[in-house]
Amino acid sequence: MDYKILNITNIISYIKNIKIIKDYFAEDSLHVNEIGDGNLNFVYIIKSEQNPQKALILKQAVPYLRCVGEEYPLSKERMTFEIRALLKYSELTPDLVPFIYDANEEMSTVVMQYLSKHIIMRKGMINGIVYPKFDEHISTFLAQNLFKTSSLFLDSTCKRQFVDSFNKNVELCKLSEDFVFSFAFMEHDTNGENARNNETAKKLFADMEFKKNVLKLKYKFMTQSDALLHGDLHTGSIMLNQNETFVIDPEFSFVGPFGFDIGALIGNLVMSYVSHLHVSKNEQYQKWILKLIEEILTKFEQKFLSLWAEVDESALHVKGFIDSKSLDEFKKEFMKNILRDSVGYAGCKMARRMFGMAGVEDIRAIEDKNKKNIAEAHVLEIAKKFVKNYEQVESVKDIREMII
Ligand SMILES: Nc1ncnc2c1ncn2[C@@H]1O[C@H](COP(=O)(O)OP(=O)(O)OP(=O)(O)O)[C@@H](O)[C@H]1O
Ligand SMILES: [Mg+2]
Repeated sequence: MDYKILNITNIISYIKNIKIIKDYFAEDSLHVNEIGDGNLNFVYIIKSEQNPQKALILKQAVPYLRCVGEEYPLSKERMTFEIRALLKYSELTPDLVPFIYDANEEMSTVVMQYLSKHIIMRKGMINGIVYPKFDEHISTFLAQNLFKTSSLFLDSTCKRQFVDSFNKNVELCKLSEDFVFSFAFMEHDTNGENARNNETAKKLFADMEFKKNVLKLKYKFMTQSDALLHGDLHTGSIMLNQNETFVIDPEFSFVGPFGFDIGALIGNLVMSYVSHLHVSKNEQYQKWILKLIEEILTKFEQKFLSLWAEVDESALHVKGFIDSKSLDEFKKEFMKNILRDSVGYAGCKMARRMFGMAGVEDIRAIEDKNKKNIAEAHVLEIAKKFVKNYEQVESVKDIREMII
């Protein structure tokens, strides 16, 4: 099928040609609305008029950046990688991604379950909502998907084929290289207004200890093909409620270093913590976030190691190669390195949100200018500690000390 851009009028005839969707809505009349609040793509909700509970989401990538328009081209093939990642996640953690009804790489579309009882986690956290099962859910998501797409689980051929199927997400990987690791840490015309004539920004841009470590992390990001990454796992890519968690929007996916998604998530939780510290001043909530960070990291490690314990043959490991005591020592060191990288990436993700093009609502939307400046400076202070000291982290406990 040749690619064409969908809109609220031609969507119905498009989906009526897809059997599973035709069956889902049967003879109902349909209503289409565009609901996307993101920057990149078009997101539509298709609802039955007879039974509004029956609804699906259709997301399509267009060959440009939605929020800017056709003058900012961006290849629509980004959806190919979102589709491939969603299908992999559906296989490994089906309860933690929306159900996929249809995915079409030529049309750059995915039709998925409508999450009607869930909200974007960032919004929930800004409103101080506690999610008691989130640590359990997201640690499973991270452990299963990172472990089972790595050379610790796959055999050598499968792993290389797997890397190949994500290797061409070149434009979005380049966006991360530029915006997560470079432009936000130098004078650059893509930076936010707040970077101009700002003493804190100038100090950051001149901090060479920080920059040397950013280069180390960026180099790893570009070259270390550990496992399938979501690539943009911030709290805006998670929809949830008290009982369920769903990861959405993996268009930045590729095979990269283990610590990157974990770091993205932790960095965003820390920014929420800082926001609550200075704005809501809700102490209970701050405590919950700090505990959440520890729980996620601890549970991730336990789950990752127990998956590893079940495997005795993989691309990395040949049966009989090493004694069990030495293997345990190797695993311990391995997990420590994932933790360290996660802290480093958390720092990059936080720092880039301060002066770079894209901020986070938790901080940028603070109305009181003075509080906003204080919160930004605080985020940056923690981010610098993370980036400068990530290689010295010994355990999860060290992270709390770097935050408070
Ligand atoms: N399955 C779903 N159910 C309900 N709402 C959804 C679903 N998928 C996406 N949305 C809504 O649409 C919004 C945009 O979706 P998504 O983040 O996937 O799009 P995007 O254009 O890639 O955004 P971004 O600019 O953040 O990359 C989400 O923030 C959410 O509000
Ligand atoms: Mg997106």
